[in-house]
This record gives sequence, C-alpha cells and structure tokens, in this order.
Amino acid sequence: MTIAIISAMAEENASLVSQMSDVTVIEAGKRRYHRGLLWGQDVVVVFSHWGKVAAASTVTYLIAKLNVDEVIFTGVAGAMDQNLNVGDIVIAEQLYQHDMDASPIIERHEIPLLGRATINSDHQRRPQLLEAAQDFVTQHLHTKLSTEIINEFSLHKPQVIVSDIASGDQFISSDQDVQDLRERLPSVACVEMEGAAVAQVCEAFEVPFSVIRTISDAANDDAHIDFPKFIKEVAQVYTQGVLHSLFAL
Ligand code: ADE
Repeated sequence: MTIAIISAMAEENASLVSQMSDVTVIEAGKRRYHRGLLWGQDVVVVFSHWGKVAAASTVTYLIAKLNVDEVIFTGVAGAMDQNLNVGDIVIAEQLYQHDMDASPIIERHEIPLLGRATINSDHQRRPQLLEAAQDFVTQHLHTKLSTEIINEFSLHKPQVIVSDIASGDQFISSDQDVQDLRERLPSVACVEMEGAAVAQVCEAFEVPFSVIRTISDAANDDAHIDFPKFIKEVAQVYTQGVLHSLFAL
C-alpha cells in the first residue's frame, strides 16, 4: 500500500525527502516524484506547485501512472474561522471550490455534473490524522521548535480541528474577501489553493484522500507574518511531526 504525500511547498517536500530511504526519482510533467520509504511506510512524495490545475495534474499522475493507493495533501492555509490562530491545524472534512461558479445553469459552488458542492475526505484517516496531530502538538512540538520560534509565532497551545476547507486559484488577502467567503461558505475554517482539486480527482478515481493544513495567516490585510520563515521553521516541522506520529500509530 503506497501513500502519496503531496506538499504545496518546496521546502516541506525537500525536508520530507531528506528523511526517506531507498529513493527513486521519477520526473514527469515538470514534477519530481520521490518513491521510497518514509519511517517504514511506502510513499511517493512530490511538490505539486500551487493552484488547482497544478495539484490536479500532479494527483492524476500519482494515481494513473504511479498507482498510489491513498493521497495525503499537506500545506498551509489562511484562517476563515475567527477562533483559529497562526500555528493551529485544520484537518479537512469536506472540500469546497470557492471559485466554482456555473450559475445560473447550476447553483454557485456546485461542481458541474457531480450534483454537489462538496467532496468528503477519507473518514477512516480523519480520526487518525486528528490523533497524530494532537500527539504532535501536545507531546513533541516543544522538543522540535525553539522557544524563540514558539514565542515569535505565539505557538503556545495550537488547536487541532476537523472542519471544512475551501480552495480556489486566489491568495486571499483582504478583509473584504474574507467577509464575502464567510457569508458564502459559513462552515469553512480555512482557505488554500489545492485541496478541493485533489478531492475532485480522487473522487473520480475512487482513491481515498486527506488534507491537513497549518494556519499561516488570517487571509486579511493585516496578516503580517514572515511567510518564508514560517514555512521553513514551523510548517515543515509540523508536517514531519504529524506524519511521523501517523505512521507510528
Ligand atoms: N495559503 C496560505 N494562506 C493562504 C491564503 N490567505 N489564501 C489562499 N491560500 C493560502
């Protein structure tokens, strides 16, 4: 059983690959797929690039050509839920495409010919990811991150929640857009640019998938974090920690 781990960040991908053994690299479609063992688990690790088309083409290749049995997508996201802070973790329940709009032919957000707006992530993996993420934030976070980084990003007690996630080909960075998205999709906890595209491809091929995101910003005008530093020092450490806990369950 082979699990594809798709990262939306080059740095995160590189750090996962550095932990792998018996690696073979397959180059196709401007992607580098790293097949091998990660903490005892058969995996293919790849950096998808950003956006829905990039993610969809990557996951299609993983399923159709590399025969992966399951897909886990990891990365960062902007918070929609006002209770979420930088460093919290969201595990997707249902995925929406917030930029899908074929109205008035069909309802806004509905995926053409699917008859609905949402796709569910794998219900068996979800509680396992929740357990692994909780284990990481409660047991290991303080051993993996320096006090300086914990203080800089206020990572004192990160929350881990399961909730809906929305994806679209847009980096959300205004109060106005946040307000609009909250009104249109009230169950959505965070926004990113790939998860729902992965969901749609996995649904078509009947491959189970999960999406796990670390909150990097509040998607608004005053989201002032050092993004590259956050990804390098926090997000990739989280991903490694959570996957390590998951494969040890
Ligand atoms: N990924 C991380 N932050 C995001 C944002 N604000 N909008 C879209 N994708 C994101």
